Amino acid sequence: MRYLDQVEVKGRRVLMRVDFNVPLAESGRVADDNRIVQAMPSIRHVLDRGGRLILCSHLGRPKGEKRPEFSLAPVARHLSGVLGQEVPLAPDCIGPEVESMANGLGDGEILLLENLRFHKEETKNDSGFSRALASLADLYVNDAFAVSHRAHASVAGVPPLIGECAAGFLIKKELDYFNKALVDPARPLVAILGGAKVSSKLGAIKSLLGKADKIIIGGAMANTFLKAAGIEVGSSLVEEELVETAGEIMSQAKRDGVLFYLPVDAVVSSDMEGRAPVRVIPIEEIEKEEMILDIGQATISLFREALSNARTIVWNGPMGAFERVPFSTGTISLARAVAGSPALTIVGGGDTGLAVNMAGEAHQMSYISTGGGAFLALMEGKELPGVKALEECVK
Ligand code: 3PG
Repeated sequence: MRYLDQVEVKGRRVLMRVDFNVPLAESGRVADDNRIVQAMPSIRHVLDRGGRLILCSHLGRPKGEKRPEFSLAPVARHLSGVLGQEVPLAPDCIGPEVESMANGLGDGEILLLENLRFHKEETKNDSGFSRALASLADLYVNDAFAVSHRAHASVAGVPPLIGECAAGFLIKKELDYFNKALVDPARPLVAILGGAKVSSKLGAIKSLLGKADKIIIGGAMANTFLKAAGIEVGSSLVEEELVETAGEIMSQAKRDGVLFYLPVDAVVSSDMEGRAPVRVIPIEEIEKEEMILDIGQATISLFREALSNARTIVWNGPMGAFERVPFSTGTISLARAVAGSPALTIVGGGDTGLAVNMAGEAHQMSYISTGGGAFLALMEGKELPGVKALEECVK
């Protein structure tokens, strides 16, 4: 794969796919600009060297409709501020007006195209749409790690159709950290998995069985494993159809010598919103109407102990319903334990990144991925279509 610093950009029209799918506040302003900030090294590289930069991104899932609430206008405004240079927003991402704006760019000038997903052809990887995008530029750069698990037009369709391709610095950083953590890790490698559903992380758990020395499971997905271990979990969310699989995973872990950790106590209540009494109980003592909503202190200590000799930690998914105060302690305590570890610490994006920010520990992590689904896809051992397209683009 070729990287951005290996290609000439001066005087060339550079189409750069970025992932500016950022959360917006009710005021319409960008609520978290991490993905924008992380794309800045590639953006500055092109502009500083006299490239004519055409940025393209999706925002949300407008499903092929031009809906104003999904416009990239707030991103253009925010980016202008971060860059210290006006970033005009094109009225669309393809078509004659966009072509003339792209052709009118001078060296070191920038243009942001409007939301790619205003066209349903983007997610369908339509070849005509890919051609229209490719015709805007001479060089294609993908720096959108977070959407590289999607075989969409701007991710996988454009590279074979354009003169030359390169990967941006964010893609490089993400893949480098991932390789350090999961391909050639310093051991012991401890993987922490949480979040609501085993089903969404089944591939990742299976793939980790062959890689990690210890696997820690928390969050509602632990319930399915607890049930498989013969523990009654009251009204907690359980994926009944996966109880057997969860049991097989634990047996496999035992056979492979992978230490597998489940909660030993829990914060429980009959109401997720925290309006009913909240108890901390040993895991075997849950009542029928109660739900497990966080890990308890004994589990926090157990997990902390499991992390104590780690040289690599990979974490994806919160330990409970961390958005609500009575149920946030487990996730925040774990964030502190991971932050305090001398290990290489890699955190998957999405909810886990949010939780680490809530705990005020983001700066203590070795790396927080900008990818949610893309990070998970890598953990599952999948090839990312966006990365594959760059590898195959040898022009
Ligand atoms: C993300 O936020 O994970 C990426 O931007 C991909 O978005 P998508 O899940 O809507 O494809």
